[in-house]
This record gives sequence, structure tokens and C-alpha cells, in this order.
Amino acid sequence: MCLSSAEAGSAIIRVRGKTNKAKYEFLRSYYTIWNQITKTRSRVIIDTHAGSGIVELKGDKNLFNKSNIQLIYGSPLLAILKTLKISKNLTIILNESDLERFNELKKYTKELMTNGIRIFKKELKEFRYKSLETKRQRKLKKKQEWIFPETPNAKPPIGYIEVRDFTKAEIILYKKKIEEIIDEILLKYLKKSDKNEEPIALFFVDPCGIVSWSEIIEKICKRSNKKEGTELILNWSWEAINRNLNSPSKNSVLNKVYGTPINRIDEEFREIIKMNQFLEKYINQLREYFKYVVRIGVPKDRKIKPKLSQYKKYFLLLCTNNKSALSLAGHKAEKIKDRMRGNFLNMKKFIRASEKVDK
Ligand SMILES: C[S@@+](CC[C@H](N)C(=O)[O-])C[C@H]1O[C@@H](n2cnc3c(N)ncnc32)[C@H](O)[C@@H]1O
Repeated sequence: MCLSSAEAGSAIIRVRGKTNKAKYEFLRSYYTIWNQITKTRSRVIIDTHAGSGIVELKGDKNLFNKSNIQLIYGSPLLAILKTLKISKNLTIILNESDLERFNELKKYTKELMTNGIRIFKKELKEFRYKSLETKRQRKLKKKQEWIFPETPNAKPPIGYIEVRDFTKAEIILYKKKIEEIIDEILLKYLKKSDKNEEPIALFFVDPCGIVSWSEIIEKICKRSNKKEGTELILNWSWEAINRNLNSPSKNSVLNKVYGTPINRIDEEFREIIKMNQFLEKYINQLREYFKYVVRIGVPKDRKIKPKLSQYKKYFLLLCTNNKSALSLAGHKAEKIKDRMRGNFLNMKKFIRASEKVDK
């Protein structure tokens, strides 16, 4: 769950719970692997709802009933940090509509463009030995190792030193409602230039609630059209839909989320009652444009506190046309599954490839 700036009383976004933590863990891995796979091409990351750059993560209460609060890098800074070492031909577009949050984001990005971003470098001890062949002294070269810290305040672990590094990516900031700027982004940054092929695009859409199908998602879907080169990570909120199901705004909310015309809502949603049915319908729409649509995690408390959790569910949906991205994502998610959902579900259920191959 995320709080609006008025509720939170500051530009920092406050999130609660393990699922949110897992969302950031997934992003941390995914930005790295996506960048690794696509590094030979010109590529663009578009964070449509970027937030302020730093997130306050509230963990479980400890023995003394005190919450464990941690400041971590939010999605826009993770995009920069996790692509740092391979950032040529990369553009990172960060959009945030709230003025206070946008100003924070501008401050952080400016700081790291001017002074670099903190990373930890392994102190390599030089190892000298005598070659048996030539009898000369030689140096053993070790591969450089880096750690990319998860939090702005992290200290280097033993054996590492703090250094600053600069991204070669072009960082573009917008302070707009994404609905007002998506067409410009698609036209200006995601079309073929005279000499080049179309850049590869990774959209991260992380609204605090509902996102319009026809104004945002459908446009991304149309770019994808089952061809490699467009990926989408969408934070899909059941909470936002569920909140409105018994209210007079139900039909307009469903129209916004699914793009279904108002006069067709009653007919199309007649049989759709449960959360999973709403989610499946949405995933089926995405599948018309992406070969693979997978769910990344659900709240850990779903089984433990089913009644409570039905109001706070969201799903991270990964939409891709690239099979290797999908399996790498699965491999990374496997590593973090304990933190996402306890041990009671195995990976096959945890990450579900909704459709294997488009025939
Ligand atoms: C869940 S937060 C983003 C968190 C961020 N992606 C992260 O992981 O660090 C959603 C953000 O979207 C912003 N927002 C809300 N409506 C928006 C819109 N129409 N266009 C762009 N940003 C919007 C909010 O101000 C808020 O900062």
C-alpha cells in the first residue's frame, strides 16, 4: 500500500509490507537482467509513476512492538543504479505528476549526475607469483567485483570500499500526468530515428491505484503487438477495483481499468465476481498483445489473513515477448521467494506463465 503525499505529510512515499519489499527486490534483479540481455541495442526505460526516488519501507513489528523502518531506493533510482555499468545507448525517462515528489526526484537525480552514485568496490589484493616457465614475477588479475547498495545509507561490507560512479544513460525528467505525456514519449523516444532501429522499451507502470487501459496500457500494448522490443511491468491493484465494486462509480471504474465501453460493462462483467476472475480477464487482455504475461508474487498474508488481505492486494504483472527474459526473471524470483510468500507455495505456483507460447 502507498500513501499519498497529503496523507504521508512529505514527498517521501511510504509503503508497508513484505510484498512491497519484494517488488523492489524483483525490480533490482529485473533491471539488471533486462539491461544485460538488451545491451547491444539502443534502449529506453520508462518509469511512468516514478515517485520521489526514495521510499520509506515499513517492515514487521519487532519484539518491542516497534516497526522496522528503512529508507530504500525507489524505482527511478534503481533504474539508474542497476544499469550503471552498462549504460551506453540507454535513456531513462522518469515521470512524476506530484510537484513535491517531482522536486525530490529532481534533487536526487541532479545529485547523482553531479557527484555520481555510491557503489561498493571490492578491494582487490594483488597476488604476485613467479612463472614456472619464464621464472619472471607475474601479477594475478582478478575480476573486479561491485556491490550496488539497496539503500542510500548502506555502509560498505568488510573488504569493500565506497566509490562513486557516473551513469552514461541519458536521464529525462517529466513532471506531467502520464496520460498527458505518453504520446510524446512514444513518438519522441520510441520510434525509429533515421539511421537506427526502434529502441527496446521497458515500461514500469506503478500507479497508486487505477491506471487507464485506453489512455496508457493499450498504447504500450499496441507498441508491443507480440513483437520483441517492448516489455511492461505493471503494478495492478485489486484494492482499487474492489473498493468501487459496490459503489455507484463501479461501471466508470471498470471502464477505465479495462477499457470496456460503459454500455457493455453489465453484460461483460455479469459472471465476474471474484478477484481471480477480474485478474484473469485483465491478463487475457494483455495476452492479446504480449506472448507471456506472468504474475510476480501476491501478498504473503493472503493465506494467513485472507479476510484482511482482500482489501490490500496488488499484483505485479510482467509482460514480455522474450522467453529468455521470462526464464531469467523466474530464476531471480526463485531466489527471493522466501521473502515473497513464505515456504508453503512452490515456484510453479508462485510465478505462473499464463500462456506458454503464442501459437
Ligand atoms: C506507487 S507511487 C510510485 C512509486 C515508485 N514507482 C517507486 O517504486 O519508487 C505512485 C506515484 O504516481 C504518482 N502519480 C499519480 N498519478 C499520476 C499520473 N497520472 N501520472 C504520473 N504520476 C502519477 C503519485 O504522485 C506517486 O508518486
